[in-house]
Amino acid sequence: MSEETSPVPQHIAIIMDGNGRWAKQRHQPRFMGHRAGVKSVEAIVKHCVERGVSVLSLFAFSSENWRRPGKEVSLLMELFALALKQQVRRLHKNNIRLHIIGDTSKFSESLQKQITEAEQLTADNIGLTINIAANYGGHWDITQSVQKLAEKVKAGEIVPSDITEDSISNGLTTAFLPDPDLFIRTGGEQRVSNFLLWQLAYTEFYFTDTLWPDFDDNELDIAISSFCNRERRFGKTSEQIQEEINA
Ligand code: IPE
Ligand code: IPE
Ligand code: MG
Repeated sequence: MSEETSPVPQHIAIIMDGNGRWAKQRHQPRFMGHRAGVKSVEAIVKHCVERGVSVLSLFAFSSENWRRPGKEVSLLMELFALALKQQVRRLHKNNIRLHIIGDTSKFSESLQKQITEAEQLTADNIGLTINIAANYGGHWDITQSVQKLAEKVKAGEIVPSDITEDSISNGLTTAFLPDPDLFIRTGGEQRVSNFLLWQLAYTEFYFTDTLWPDFDDNELDIAISSFCNRERRFGKTSEQIQEEINA
């Protein structure tokens, strides 16, 4: 199959790791790596549109990243605000929907306002959905979903046995999205770092040593090719899957 006709993952989720090391290799401050990382985001968004991907989830700031030096945290916040300011109109023009998941209540008032405005502006766009995880943690996401259900039990609206996998799933911040098909982590670490824990249950994982600022179209194509060569069995046997394909 040619690149254009082979099936692409509908939803790609990326842990964009390695910015700090990229900067260090160049004897630059870590912040320069984050800045270069924003350029990679732009290129990858463009290529996802070209490849027909529907949803791109990007881990921008984890609930654990507050543990970094205060200076780096505040520079990351500034960079996030700047990127939103500079990119939102262009994204909107390209029919891209922007959504932020995570506990944004911990951000400054002005950043929260920017996020809400960006989401509102792009809400009706039907091209690529970019889902940015900011102050996001998979444990937090599951916890807040379960808390909402507990409130319903307390109010007498449901009983505990009404709590199902579907109802927990429907309370997650990603309820409006399909689960990721392909998970990519750049930067060489092979861990999930509290990203979309529930949602990654059957996602195909792809790890690369390439640092995020060096991750480009070609690297994304390699990851997609790897995905296309996997057999997703969802608990079934290979024979069953082949029968389904042939039917
Ligand atoms: C990922 O790059 C970006 C964020 C976590 C915000 P890092 O900053 O973690 O880069 P390394 O892992 O130190 O190289
Ligand atoms: C994960 O990267 C979070 C983001 C990319 C935003 P980290 O570099 O913070 O992950 P750990 O803590 O090393 O696992
Ligand atoms: Mg890192």
